Amino acid sequence: TEIDAAEARAWVRAAQRLVVFSGAGMSAESGVPTFRGAQTGLWARFRPEELATEDAFRAHPGRVWDWYSERRAQVARVEPNAGHRAVAEFQRRHPGRLTVVTQNVDGLHQRAGSTDVLALHGNLFENRWLDPCPLAGRGASGCAAARAEPGRPPRCAQCGNALRPAVVWFGEMLPEHALARAEQAAAACDLMLVVGTSGQVWPAAGLVHAARAAGAQVVVVNSAPSELDSVAQMVLCGTSARLLPRLLGA
Ligand code: APR
Repeated sequence: TEIDAAEARAWVRAAQRLVVFSGAGMSAESGVPTFRGAQTGLWARFRPEELATEDAFRAHPGRVWDWYSERRAQVARVEPNAGHRAVAEFQRRHPGRLTVVTQNVDGLHQRAGSTDVLALHGNLFENRWLDPCPLAGRGASGCAAARAEPGRPPRCAQCGNALRPAVVWFGEMLPEHALARAEQAAAACDLMLVVGTSGQVWPAAGLVHAARAAGAQVVVVNSAPSELDSVAQMVLCGTSARLLPRLLGA
């Protein structure tokens, strides 16, 4: 890895346009559990179908709301790690040269100081209404959130509409604007660093294939083998908090 990391660092220095494509492994060293890590993965304790779908929310709104409240509280307690900081520092030193495309909803890239982060799966700390307001257009001023109580999502006092986390659930469309810009960045970049993702979820994972197909150098940074290793010219086996400062550092 020593030689590879030095070579990858040379690729970074030579690249004019870079993309960091990150997944849950980017935040693992901040203490945020990944989704599919066998021992601590969130999905090891909960089944995605049970929680991260609209049907699950409509069937068990309190359980899903509480799970996201627990994740919000967990993420609010942690700090960005050296990997997030290395990315933000690089962006500060080289304005406009590195685009962050993340599958993470924890907001840690943004808290580390990264700008212009394309958050493909939304943001854990934002909510939106589950349904359009049925009273809208009848002179009503639109839904007004009632207070959140444990075990139940806030509901509109007028029409009963529920607030839901503004994250992309399984089977839902990704935010169009963020995805379009991520596709452009993937097609235009010279180098894509694929950090801490198992590459199992689409369409996000497709961005790595698109970058490779467009002629970019692809470097995977992961502490274990991943489905995207076969798309990369180089796979660096190690943690993002250790390797990213070496690849992106001044
Ligand atoms: N450094 C680098 N990589 C790491 C580290 C670390 N310290 N710790 C774990 N990893 C790697 C794991 O080896 C794994 O390949 O991070 C990856 C995490 O994979 P997942 O848990 O599947 O997370 P991710 O790929 O981001 O999942 C994608 O699936 O559940 C949905 O919407 C959710 O955005 C998520 C999407």
